[in-house]
Amino acid sequence: MIGMYRKRQEKLISSLPDNSVLIIPGACLRLRSQDTHFPFRQDSNFYYLSGFNEPDSTLMIRKDKNKIESIIFVPKKDKVKEIWDGYRAGPEGAKKDYGFDKAFDNDQIDTILPEFLLNKNKVYYPFGNNDGFDKKVVDWTHAANNQDRHSGKIDIADANSILGSNRLIKAFAEIEVIRQACSISASAHSAAMQFVKPGLNESDVEAYYMYEFAKRGGRYAAYNPIVAGGVNACVLHYNDNNCMLNDGDLILVDAGCEFNMYASDITRTYPINGKFSKEQLAVYEIVLAAQQASIEAVRPGNSVIEPQKVSEKIITQGLIDIGILDGEISELIEIGAFREYYMHKVGHWMGMDVHDVGPYMQNDNYLEFSEGMITTIEPGIYINNKSNADAKWHGIGIRIEDDILVTKNDNENLTSAVPTDPNEIESLMNSS
Ligand code: GLY
Ligand code: MN
Ligand code: MN
Repeated sequence: MIGMYRKRQEKLISSLPDNSVLIIPGACLRLRSQDTHFPFRQDSNFYYLSGFNEPDSTLMIRKDKNKIESIIFVPKKDKVKEIWDGYRAGPEGAKKDYGFDKAFDNDQIDTILPEFLLNKNKVYYPFGNNDGFDKKVVDWTHAANNQDRHSGKIDIADANSILGSNRLIKAFAEIEVIRQACSISASAHSAAMQFVKPGLNESDVEAYYMYEFAKRGGRYAAYNPIVAGGVNACVLHYNDNNCMLNDGDLILVDAGCEFNMYASDITRTYPINGKFSKEQLAVYEIVLAAQQASIEAVRPGNSVIEPQKVSEKIITQGLIDIGILDGEISELIEIGAFREYYMHKVGHWMGMDVHDVGPYMQNDNYLEFSEGMITTIEPGIYINNKSNADAKWHGIGIRIEDDILVTKNDNENLTSAVPTDPNEIESLMNSS
């Protein structure tokens, strides 16, 4: 494992100029109320480059000619804290067990870190993710610049896009972990299709998903699950998850577990009573056709905007066919008429973060898909109760979302184990 992190450090730093330094802050514990915390989740960039999972740590990688040096600042060994909160590696453990070249206690950072900046040309740092830390980096750099007024000044440069580009193409080992996350989430969705019935509360279904994730090794969700019955599905980031599930409505569940620091992201929409109504099915078929065609467009060499265009076209045509939109398709696409019903993008990169940090454009041009990228494909149609559509469509909110790996010549749907075909969904729901 240590070798894997060292390789990542070497790869990233090879794109930086000689005589530069990269500083990456780890995550801190965050208060939820008074003195109780949210569960700790390490910062993805920090973990990607270090594999170190203790809060309040800071990684520094120095590039000096062809030599790289990794330096970490970690929580101090503390017998009492370790009795309450568990083991700490401390600087010695960080060197011995994780292979950092140098390691120090956190309380030395303000004196030691600026010394490591002396005579460097550039400090790279991912700005804008942590206000308090942004200021520290500026202060440390000022401290180093002020130590020797007659030497060259050290510049600070943003490292976000470099980190994003490095994380965009997934290595084989990462793909295997994501595959596992996807498999756990797909199993949970399939099990939930047999569990859901009228009279349950959205919170029952949320708890069921969390249990299904946890029992397979994915204790945490990669994002707050959206469990939305009926018209709640039209609130895109619905999170209350506390309403009754009514006979005759659909349920939209957008839920994916995190497994070994990697996300999965699946949405399925299915009938609470196990049978789609005529109107629900008509809208569902449009979203499914858009999803399948958009997945087809995820292939090496295609522009990353292609699935978006495909989904807009199929959804617009579908809404014309069922009488919700009226007009000529190219004009309707031109004016974005579909946006009243399909108001989000077709997908996003996925990796350690569910909305992963890779770029979509370079030099004002969209990237092309290439092997090792992973994107979600998740078109939807949402017809809320105030919509201009006929009242018979009101309350229908449908999204179908899968996680798609770009392979050498094609793509692989990592979440296809949970059905999207409406007949398969109905037979699964009615099989228990
Ligand atoms: N679950 C968040 C998303 O689908 O983007
Ligand atoms: Mn998504
Ligand atoms: Mn999602």
